[in-house]
Amino acid sequence: MAKKLFIPGPVEVHPDILAAMAMPMIGHRMPEYAALHGRVTGALKKLLATEEKVFLATSSAFGVMEGAVRNLVKRRCVNFCNGAFSDKWHDVTKRCGKEADAVKVDWGKAITPDIVDRALATGKYDSLTLIHNETSTGVMSPLPEIAAVLKKYPEVVSIIDTVSSMSALSIPVDALGIDCCIFGVQKAFALPPGLAVFTASAKALERAGTVEGRGYYFDFLEFAANDLKNNTPSTPCISLVYALDRQLERIFSEGLEQRWARHREMASLVRNWVVDRGFGFFAEEPYRSLTLTCAVNSRNVDLAALKKILAGRGYAFDDGYGKIKGQTFRIAHMGDMQCADLCEFLSVIDESLGQLS
Ligand SMILES: Cc1ncc(COP(=O)(O)O)c(C=O)c1O
Repeated sequence: MAKKLFIPGPVEVHPDILAAMAMPMIGHRMPEYAALHGRVTGALKKLLATEEKVFLATSSAFGVMEGAVRNLVKRRCVNFCNGAFSDKWHDVTKRCGKEADAVKVDWGKAITPDIVDRALATGKYDSLTLIHNETSTGVMSPLPEIAAVLKKYPEVVSIIDTVSSMSALSIPVDALGIDCCIFGVQKAFALPPGLAVFTASAKALERAGTVEGRGYYFDFLEFAANDLKNNTPSTPCISLVYALDRQLERIFSEGLEQRWARHREMASLVRNWVVDRGFGFFAEEPYRSLTLTCAVNSRNVDLAALKKILAGRGYAFDDGYGKIKGQTFRIAHMGDMQCADLCEFLSVIDESLGQLS
């Protein structure tokens, strides 16, 4: 049985998007692809408020997260870590053979501007990685305030993961001064997985030009050269590019302000439910994510049993990630979801909780 997805990615995909993916195939060196690619990157530039380069990569987000480290870390990188995905990014940075230090805070806490300032003030780093919205813990770090600190360190290239936040709120890439902003499409963009988007500032491309060992598949300079022809270095996932084209149209027809407001409303609906039902929040205030809520299982519910009941009723429920599985559960509120979908899901959870007790 197909389950309605309320996990933090992949999320439900709208039938219009599935239909867009069924478009007849074209060749990526045909003019039809160049037109599609140009339209999609143009719309992405508008959404991201950037005039810098926007590239499409056929991979999940971690492909580009690894690629960014390979291209942009020359001397030493600082990886800010506050959850499973940022911890993993540190590991990936080291596995790429780069000099790197992890600055860790406890899971559930945010990376704050003073933490970033203290690390960069050591003068040891020419690059940093940061996850805006730690999906494992439901923490959204304060990007505008962090970006203000980054402006003090123009020699540092910033690599920012907005995998589970981009499009759910305003993230103006150029105004924030982000050198490389990365996201996948299976979270707030609500597409099937397999496509990652990234930006590269002139500073990032200049850095890449001085770094050895960039490899081929994620070589930023290959992306830049192909971008001049509205193309990609290797064969792209054309069906997903069609899907992204359709989704960008849908996003702009909803309106960005309305989309951001809908995400705020959905977040507050779920947070109110969490409080009303006597659960806690894993993320410290005021850094709770706008796109998912990570609740503390303070009522000691058998989450595995709850997940099974919900699955039987046709809903996919997440019972926590990594070392906090079972102690927490996560409810996604992103993408094409509406408050009505969440009300439906929350009332089924209520009934299922009744069955458990
Ligand atoms: C914040 C964040 N970064 C990175 C990733 C990894 O993305 P992928 O599995 O698409 O490579 C995820 C996946 O959930 C994520 O939530």
